[in-house]
Amino acid sequence: MKKIAIITGASTGLGREFVKLILEKKEIEEIWAIARHQDKLDKLRRQLGNRIRTFSIDLSNRARIEEFGVMLSESDVEVRYLINNAGYAKFCSYHDLNVADSLNMIDLNIGGVVAMGLVCIPHMPSGSHIVNIASQAAFQPLPYQNLYSSTKAFVRNYTRALNVELEDCGITATAVCPGWIKTHLYERANIGAAKATKRFCGMTTPDKVAKKAMADADRGKDISIYSLYVNFCHIGAKLLPQQLMMKLWLQQQHIDPHSNTK
Ligand SMILES: NC(=O)c1ccc[n+]([C@@H]2O[C@H](COP(=O)([O-])OP(=O)(O)OC[C@H]3O[C@@H](n4cnc5c(N)ncnc54)[C@H](OP(=O)(O)O)[C@@H]3O)[C@@H](O)[C@H]2O)c1
Repeated sequence: MKKIAIITGASTGLGREFVKLILEKKEIEEIWAIARHQDKLDKLRRQLGNRIRTFSIDLSNRARIEEFGVMLSESDVEVRYLINNAGYAKFCSYHDLNVADSLNMIDLNIGGVVAMGLVCIPHMPSGSHIVNIASQAAFQPLPYQNLYSSTKAFVRNYTRALNVELEDCGITATAVCPGWIKTHLYERANIGAAKATKRFCGMTTPDKVAKKAMADADRGKDISIYSLYVNFCHIGAKLLPQQLMMKLWLQQQHIDPHSNTK
């Protein structure tokens, strides 16, 4: 059986860094890279080599994930790594997004992670790893990133509980909780809303986050946090009341929820 790694959102940002790190693992014979845009996947393959097989799939579409699952079952492969990285944010208020856009974020950030796990776990032998990308936004409720932070809180809790459930199969699940990373996320997140995230404290690069996440996954840790700053925020969110954490967040972002700016 061919040993493969599946990486979602592999074409840019953090996902691309995971591709590079998995390529260093000689025992992994093929990387299955998933994203929506085939041109970006083709570029990834041209730049990083032919151990990469590409799949253009919109992971917010459950039917497409089910099709992928059938194809996986018909292939002679075992999944050594599943890296559920595809996800996006919108920096705005609840009323800036319509019902379809709001639910699409849940479909990708939550539905995609759960469905890809369910489809892949039957093909994962003992010693395999699931890496689910949550966020520092998972630590506390974030006004004006309300939906995004809630999806990431789901991913964090789901992954840590899944890690316990998978113990008997010898599979580990790691929730990665990065702070701000220099990627393309901001192009989709910034929709010009007046009350929006505009200050990005402790910004880092995706290679550092991916390296720490892979090391933590290989060690079987259920959570991966990169940088002193994000660790500090993690501890703060555990010790301080959530009301206070939300106030501090709004102050940091210079957002007054009571101002009339729409
Ligand atoms: N950047 C940050 O500050 C930050 C912080 C914490 C956590 N994260 C998390 O890190 C993960 C990676 O994001 P990134 O920062 O690397 O952003 P990015 O550069 O925008 O990368 C997103 C990747 O996901 C793919 N994607 C987007 N929508 C998709 C869909 N519906 N189906 C399949 N693939 C899809 C994109 O390709 P296509 O557009 O071609 O589909 C791209 O490959 C996300 O889960 C994000 O929430 C990011």
